[in-house]
Amino acid sequence: MVNPMDLTGKRILVTGASSGIGRACAILASRLGASVVLVARDVKRLEESFSLMSAGEHTLISFDLSDIERCEDLFKRCASEKKLDGMVHAAGIGPAVPIQSVSLALMREVMSINYFAFMELIKWFSKKKYSSGGSVVGVSSVSGVVGWQGVSLYGGSKGAMDSSVRSLAIELASKNIRVNSVVPSNIRTPMLDEMISVGGEDAVRQILSKQPLGLGEPVDVANAVAFLLSDASRFITGTQLVVDGGYLAQ
Ligand SMILES: NC(=O)c1ccc[n+]([C@@H]2O[C@H](COP(=O)([O-])OP(=O)(O)OC[C@H]3O[C@@H](n4cnc5c(N)ncnc54)[C@H](OP(=O)(O)O)[C@@H]3O)[C@@H](O)[C@H]2O)c1
Repeated sequence: MVNPMDLTGKRILVTGASSGIGRACAILASRLGASVVLVARDVKRLEESFSLMSAGEHTLISFDLSDIERCEDLFKRCASEKKLDGMVHAAGIGPAVPIQSVSLALMREVMSINYFAFMELIKWFSKKKYSSGGSVVGVSSVSGVVGWQGVSLYGGSKGAMDSSVRSLAIELASKNIRVNSVVPSNIRTPMLDEMISVGGEDAVRQILSKQPLGLGEPVDVANAVAFLLSDASRFITGTQLVVDGGYLAQ
């Protein structure tokens, strides 16, 4: 049977692979036949992700993406033997903070992981020695499209990602690299649990009132990411694939 989302033979780097959406992307990519490079800081949780994956030549790399100057080391470690065919930037942090509490240090931290790392990773991915084309997917957020209490900084980092996706797609098309992002709404992950623990029952009620299909699961986002990584999306670049249970339809 033909599977248009088959990833057999592809080598895919996934950041944020120790938890939530990144973990789901790594697991699904392995089930679709890819060999996966799993990147995050926490080795134990990376190993948990690994234990849930289909067998393959996977690589686990503990790396702090705030150490942006060292990003090339990551590529030297994972792409020196076999070039990469795809990359997913799912690592991210999402503090809910009102503007009066947004410090410069927090701005630097959020932008570093959510946006600067995305740009730096693409810079290295698009070098001939590390890939000969492929597909890059950023994990953005509906917060980059619509406003919400306390997410001006986080939403800004995601809006920046979506904006850069368009120009990167044009710039890298000649290298046969496609660049897209997925735009999830509220997905059941540790990041969401943390936001709910701050906002309480009210936050849950608010979320559910805005998502006609209820809360999303990490695999819902992973399915969209796998489509964008696969050759089934070979004519799609520079765009956002919304995975939001109807949030933005209202
Ligand atoms: N959950 C949602 O409702 C939702 C909605 C829209 C968009 N998103 C986006 O989806 C992505 C994944 O979120 P999630 O909900 O799956 O969150 P999560 O469960 O908290 O996972 C975040 C991941 O980012 C990694 N990470 C954080 N800081 C890092 C650093 N300095 N260096 C390397 N890795 C780092 C974490 O790994 P370590 O801690 O091991 O380093 C973890 O694997 C994020 O970009 C988020 O903005 C989430």
